Amino acid sequence: MVVPLFSKNIPAIKEFRHVSLRRRQFLGLAALGATGALVWQGRSLLQGPAPLPTTVSEIYRSEAGLLELTLEARYGDVILGGELAPRRMTYNGQIPGPRLEVKPGDRLIINFKNALDQPTNLHFHGLHLSPSGNQDNVFLHLNPGETFRYELQIHPQQRAGTYWYHPHHHGHAAEQLFQGLAGLIVVRGDLDDLPEIRAAQEEFFVLQDFALDGPGQGMMAAHMNLMMGREGSLITVNGLFHPEIAVTKDLVRLRLLNASPSRFYRLQLFGQRLTQIAGDNGAFSQPLERDELLLTPGQRAEVLIQAHGLPKTPIHLLSLPYQRAQMGMMGRQFSGITQAIADFTPKEVPFTPRRLPQDLIAVEPLPEPSRTRRFTLSHGMVPGQGMAFLINGEAYQDRPQTTVRLNEIEDWELVNLGTMDHPFHLHVNSFQVLSRNGVPEVPLVWADTVLVKVGETVKIRVAFRDFVGTTVYHCHILDHEDLGMMGQLEILPPA
Ligand code: C2O
Ligand code: CU
Ligand code: CU
Repeated sequence: MVVPLFSKNIPAIKEFRHVSLRRRQFLGLAALGATGALVWQGRSLLQGPAPLPTTVSEIYRSEAGLLELTLEARYGDVILGGELAPRRMTYNGQIPGPRLEVKPGDRLIINFKNALDQPTNLHFHGLHLSPSGNQDNVFLHLNPGETFRYELQIHPQQRAGTYWYHPHHHGHAAEQLFQGLAGLIVVRGDLDDLPEIRAAQEEFFVLQDFALDGPGQGMMAAHMNLMMGREGSLITVNGLFHPEIAVTKDLVRLRLLNASPSRFYRLQLFGQRLTQIAGDNGAFSQPLERDELLLTPGQRAEVLIQAHGLPKTPIHLLSLPYQRAQMGMMGRQFSGITQAIADFTPKEVPFTPRRLPQDLIAVEPLPEPSRTRRFTLSHGMVPGQGMAFLINGEAYQDRPQTTVRLNEIEDWELVNLGTMDHPFHLHVNSFQVLSRNGVPEVPLVWADTVLVKVGETVKIRVAFRDFVGTTVYHCHILDHEDLGMMGQLEILPPA
């Protein structure tokens, strides 16, 4: 039996705990003045001690086709947004974790240790890897104290792009991400070799949000919050609160990852348009001009910013409100406020206008499918389980819900029957988004996570290539995934 969420028996949260947040909220709100005009009085608003310096994430690059490193999931006292955040979950003591840079065809060896007090594992989001053995195997239970050697063979045809790693132990994923566990994997390749791109100033933004009132308390325990998907009131860029980026080259190549468990980032560069050149799985075929960019949990994007013509004052990268649930008063708490999450400040003047590359990397449409499947997304009460999030009416079970054949091409219709938006994510094989409520989606891009809004039907096309084995698809609001919105996909050898 399935009944709509929030109809009854769900205790409402009376209030969120706001501990030591006054300064930040003030700063956040200050981005939009009382009249709605953008005013920014900058750090003169800051009273008290200067922010503490954040540990910079290490960068590891492959050499001669190999990158081998040691990665430990462990507790650490870190600086988040300029303040001490005790006992967060880190990779090698860093939030975000080390950035790993490889090339197609490389081997990536991670000597992993779980020094947490709960099980964990690693998932390599967006990479075309085997889902079995010691590759992208999300069914591993690595217990506290256990070590494991991941040996990844980066596919020779892996598209250059922005990928990432994070824990994927069912039931623990949202909490571990929210505590800080996430890091970038950058695949270098053809896009990086375009001369205009190569000359650009490259910046990586890992977007994370955190609760400041410590693990295991306050808002995290609130039932409602888990239903919605937890959000923290501190938004960070690479662990920093509102960093200022000095623009020193004619073109900035900004590479973004939403590593938050639930928060959507609706981004706008104040007064400027953004030129998007890549999404989840590498380059678009042509640059795409846009006023704003929506990044759901798990998604990545790359944008170019022309320095020529920018005002010489700091330019705010704004995070705008987004309503991801249709539930009246309750949902409103999650639509958020407008905040400046970073500033870009042009340093060297004058800048030269740069012609943007008009042709990037070709995106070839996939051939016609051999069949179409339908996946409904919903939530409701499940006997014996309580509130659960469901795919095709079923909460996650440890057996394949969907079986496909290697080398087949399929269309999947993703139908949102619920009252919340769900970003749908598939492991191992990326897909192309064909249409949204029957309207063709342009441009054609490679993706691994697609937003299915309330009431929408989104059609994607996927080819199952190279790897047999069992993997998963799920909602990338990781609380929804932990609460059941995940299915197993079995890829069988060709018939
Ligand atoms: Cu980034 Cu299965 O997830
Ligand atoms: Cu993934
Ligand atoms: Cu969801």
